[in-house]
Amino acid sequence: MSDNIFEKVSTLLNEINLSNPGTDEDLETFRIRFLGTKNIIKPLFAEMKNVPNEQKKEFGLKLNQLKQAAEAKYSSCQSALNSGTTTSKGTSIDLSVPPGPLNIGARHPVSLVLNHMIDVFSRIGFTVAEDREIEDDWHNFTAMNTPEHHPARDMQDTFYLEGSDSMLLRTHTSSVQARVMTTQKPPIRIIAPGRVFRNETISARSHCQFHQVEGLFVDKGVSFADMKQTLLYFAREMYGAKTDIRLRPSYFPFTEPSAEMDVWLGTETDITRRLTKGTGWLEVLGCGMVDPNVLENCGIDSEVYSGYAFGIGIERSAMQKYDISDIRLLFENDNRFLGQFTSAF
Ligand code: PHE
Repeated sequence: MSDNIFEKVSTLLNEINLSNPGTDEDLETFRIRFLGTKNIIKPLFAEMKNVPNEQKKEFGLKLNQLKQAAEAKYSSCQSALNSGTTTSKGTSIDLSVPPGPLNIGARHPVSLVLNHMIDVFSRIGFTVAEDREIEDDWHNFTAMNTPEHHPARDMQDTFYLEGSDSMLLRTHTSSVQARVMTTQKPPIRIIAPGRVFRNETISARSHCQFHQVEGLFVDKGVSFADMKQTLLYFAREMYGAKTDIRLRPSYFPFTEPSAEMDVWLGTETDITRRLTKGTGWLEVLGCGMVDPNVLENCGIDSEVYSGYAFGIGIERSAMQKYDISDIRLLFENDNRFLGQFTSAF
């Protein structure tokens, strides 16, 4: 009698070990048979009274083994099903089949131009400094020699944070000049790429957000000639080895003297004529010698140090490079537009 029961237990253990429920239904059948309220193992415990005393312990161990094997099989098959290595039809997925084409996307044209500029400047020793887009009034305006009520603030109207009259969305990356100069000692040689904001009507040519790359070089004996040579190098790397530049006198509160730099694109094609309004010259950046007031505001001795700074608009360069006619396309995240751009940068 007891031999019979031992045999039954090992037959069931075999069955559990060999079974491989690969679908939800198979697994449920398995559960009902071995783990459900009326499972097949339960009545075997009642057989304990028929087992001779000296075999009772062994029998008990075997029954527990049986139960544990059923539980282990159930949970391993359940996780296999959930992790998807078997399908609901029970067929295994062939993991050796090569995957279909991956859509890895493309870089945004603004990133392409930005990365190119970073590459060009890092080759001559500029490092990248990034800082916040939500700025305080001091770093964006006051430190940059544009105190409250200064008329130059009108040109850079922006968005103020609700409940605060000093926190705003930065109007230019020049705020990073103040961030860097108040925390680092000269020599300082940085570029600061990033997004800026202005309260402007959105049209094909202007937007309330755009990108700039700021440049700042502060050291002993830095001259206007140093700036001009750096900017000529930049223009030739970006627009071709034969590109010429011209500096037109201009005004910024934080530089003195100030200039606007144009690059020569020529008037040969429709695109260059349109972009340069028929003049052949494209305006690409504002620049100048850092105003001594700005150095002093940031705790740098203007008797000892001098520097130059420049701010380059990214969107216009991207639009010129990729012949994009409407700036709004750059902010709409339309994949049909964005999918067209690929480059090593
Ligand atoms: N911050 C200026 C602007 O946004 C550009 C600039 C930067 C000019 C640095 C001079 C020096 O228009």
